[in-house]
Amino acid sequence: MQRVRQLPQQLVERIRTGLTLDSLPQAVVEVLANSLDAHAQNIVIRLGAPTLSFTVEDDGHGVRAEDLDVLGSRYSTSKLRGVTDLAGGIQTLGFRGEAVASLITNAAEVCITTRGRGSFETLTKTTRSGGSNVAFAPSTTHLKHSGTIISVKQFLFNQPVRSRQLLAQTGDIEARTIQAVLRMALPFVNVSVTLLRAPTGHVLLHLPQDRDLRSLFSQLVPEQAPTLPPMIHLAGERGYGIRGLLGSLKACYPHQHHQYLYVNRRHVIHTSISALLNAHFLRAYLRAGYHLSNRSQQQHDDPLPHSAGDDGHDGKSGSRSRNNSSSVRALPAFLVAIECPYGDYDVTSEPDKSGIVFKHLPIIHSLLKSMAAQAWGADTPLSTYGDAAALEATKR
Ligand SMILES: Nc1ncnc2c1ncn2[C@@H]1O[C@H](COP(=O)(O)OP(=O)(O)OP(=O)(O)O)[C@@H](O)[C@H]1O
Ligand SMILES: [Mg+2]
Repeated sequence: MQRVRQLPQQLVERIRTGLTLDSLPQAVVEVLANSLDAHAQNIVIRLGAPTLSFTVEDDGHGVRAEDLDVLGSRYSTSKLRGVTDLAGGIQTLGFRGEAVASLITNAAEVCITTRGRGSFETLTKTTRSGGSNVAFAPSTTHLKHSGTIISVKQFLFNQPVRSRQLLAQTGDIEARTIQAVLRMALPFVNVSVTLLRAPTGHVLLHLPQDRDLRSLFSQLVPEQAPTLPPMIHLAGERGYGIRGLLGSLKACYPHQHHQYLYVNRRHVIHTSISALLNAHFLRAYLRAGYHLSNRSQQQHDDPLPHSAGDDGHDGKSGSRSRNNSSSVRALPAFLVAIECPYGDYDVTSEPDKSGIVFKHLPIIHSLLKSMAAQAWGADTPLSTYGDAAALEATKR
């Protein structure tokens, strides 16, 4: 358990984003990321969408009493120390020391109750009115083991127009939070994550400990279940490895909601990786005798609402682009987990912590091509099939 410290100015200049959390799902996943980074085994999230409030409780390593003071001031983190840490790579989901500060600024109340590993005390730090009022006290709740409870009340209390807008769509907030929590927590298979509706306790999502990714994926994309191929494992040079569940050719989608890509358990968005898999799938799909039609657009549409930022496909470019209703697309479902040395990629170059730049992309491309060939058959140039519609579709 590292000390929480203010980042040196030189590093702040390099990685700061001026993060402003402005959606409840985004706020929830930032707090969830902190619990995962604290090596929690059990995480319970209580979401009160109608009051724009939530609580995240974990049994991670907690926060030291002497660090509570600095916790929540901007660029204070236990996860990064100096510029030299960047070279070795970032192993935690968070690293900027911005999220809790942004929560404090935007919530009527943030209460952090924590017991640090090796300590007997449970302490509370409460900030109110956007951080203008701060109080420390021994907690009225005594945590039986190390861990942290972060409770956020009336998120966006100081942005009345935005909060009214959000309050008009509480069902939507729940659906988006389920998606966002699922996407982040999915590869942490040893961690139990439960999302409850507050105050009723209705279970919105439960990811059990020691879950099997293949059966979870089959539940998420039920139409894949009967024909879902087995998990493929491949090892590459320089310590690279890849595990993948590539969806069957029998079920395709007009959107990317069933595409999950991870690097060392971080959910990432990567245009060329998605494009490579999408193009290979499309060619195999056509080769198997399926045709692109508007019917396939509607066939496997996702009942849950998705919008900018909630599932990582936020309309920025390439593979991130939103589905255009006038276009016909046949996209695969996949869950791909890449493992590689932490120093071989950079996650600090984009504001979104799921943006990633690889140093050795060709190694990953070559593993992906082998994996796609195993699941969908060897690749052949599309022109062989003379399918003009398909050529058009790959250009989109
Ligand atoms: N649940 C938790 N358990 C233990 N420590 C926590 C927890 N939540 C927050 N912290 C501590 O508070 C610090 C600040 O959290 P915050 O989310 O603001 O920054 P970060 O995770 O370091 O970076 P980022 O802004 O990229 O998320 C963390 O570095 C961590 O030390
Ligand atoms: Mg964080």
